[in-house]
Amino acid sequence: MTKTVIPMIDLAAQHAEIEEELLQGFAEVMASGRFVLGEPVTAFETELAKLCEIRHAVSCNSGTDALWLALQALEIGPGDAVLCPAFSFFATAAAIVRVGATPVFVDIDPVSLNLDPEDAVRRAEATPNLRAVVTADLFGRIADLGPLERWCRERDVPVIEDAAQSIGATDSDARPVGARARVACFSFYPTKNLGALGDAGALVTADTALAERISSLRVHGESEPGVYTSFGLNSRMDALQAVALSIKLRHLERWTRARRQRALHYDALFAERGATPVGVPITEGALALQTPAPLTEPGRHTYHRYVVRVAPERRDALVGALADEGIATEIYYARGLHQQPALAEFAPREPLAQTERAAREVLALPLYPELPIESIERVVGVTTRVLAEPPAAGARRG
Ligand SMILES: Cc1ncc(COP(=O)(O)O)c(C=O)c1O
Repeated sequence: MTKTVIPMIDLAAQHAEIEEELLQGFAEVMASGRFVLGEPVTAFETELAKLCEIRHAVSCNSGTDALWLALQALEIGPGDAVLCPAFSFFATAAAIVRVGATPVFVDIDPVSLNLDPEDAVRRAEATPNLRAVVTADLFGRIADLGPLERWCRERDVPVIEDAAQSIGATDSDARPVGARARVACFSFYPTKNLGALGDAGALVTADTALAERISSLRVHGESEPGVYTSFGLNSRMDALQAVALSIKLRHLERWTRARRQRALHYDALFAERGATPVGVPITEGALALQTPAPLTEPGRHTYHRYVVRVAPERRDALVGALADEGIATEIYYARGLHQQPALAEFAPREPLAQTERAAREVLALPLYPELPIESIERVVGVTTRVLAEPPAAGARRG
């Protein structure tokens, strides 16, 4: 009997559900003859600003461009240092290097997997040319700024929030994404919780002058028709993407609830089988798996990814056993940013212990709004069966 494949995400299922709405929207764009910026893009920006309860949203071509535009609009460049977490997607740090500034890597809090605010303050104090802080909200959980928020406010150091993975989330003080930052950057890469049908991104900010600079920089630095006052990018959103995003935005709340429900179902099933949430001491005989740390209300985790932690010497075997059963997994991220060859020159002298440990332990399991509940039961069943067996002799020590 062939086993049903369980993918990480099923965009075909998502699009089948809204196909008529999408096709109708695309037909209107084709009839209009306007494919770049224009009314559909402005309409999407308005809806995004409303969702984030913030004054301005400016769209662009990707989350990567959004980060570059934020840094460039804040006039950060050569000679400046910018703090960022060592555990994130490459673009979080690459954008800093692309504007000519120096990334200063901060270790992570092992519970949230986001930047450790205490370590951030320590490194900020030791960085005289610090001009900005980039935070990343990994896997749908907003980074807790703790003492860093006040430190930045008192020195007027802007916080740039890499919110590529956290649309629809709220922090532990019930503030939506972007609320504490000078500017927040979104990615609408197709696999994101709100995904376009190609590349797309956006920024949100309450700062009107900053929003104007970003709007100019996304069209080469044009400040009025035909007048160019700086060097920007060609990073305009396509009308077809804006239409798709506006349609999908109407379904986002329902999809987020479905993700949360599935993540909590994983948590409950794993707990029944002896797993421990991250942050809770592991007792003798517990399953060698830690579920994501729960975020208490009013905080809202949107579970862009459902990421568990397993003992490093068991991870390869578990990935292999799940693959044999047709179950996809991914490792986000297998190395810290300071361990990436392109960023090695910015690595601190001492190890970033929590980042490096997380890189050896994390494993993302399938999670998407349409994921059948029986699939979750199968994933948990295979995972616990493999981890309950004694490790194979010679299993690699992490
Ligand atoms: C944390 C983070 N930052 C930045 C990006 C870059 O976004 P994009 O792929 O839209 O350029 C991504 C998306 O992959 C991301 O996950």
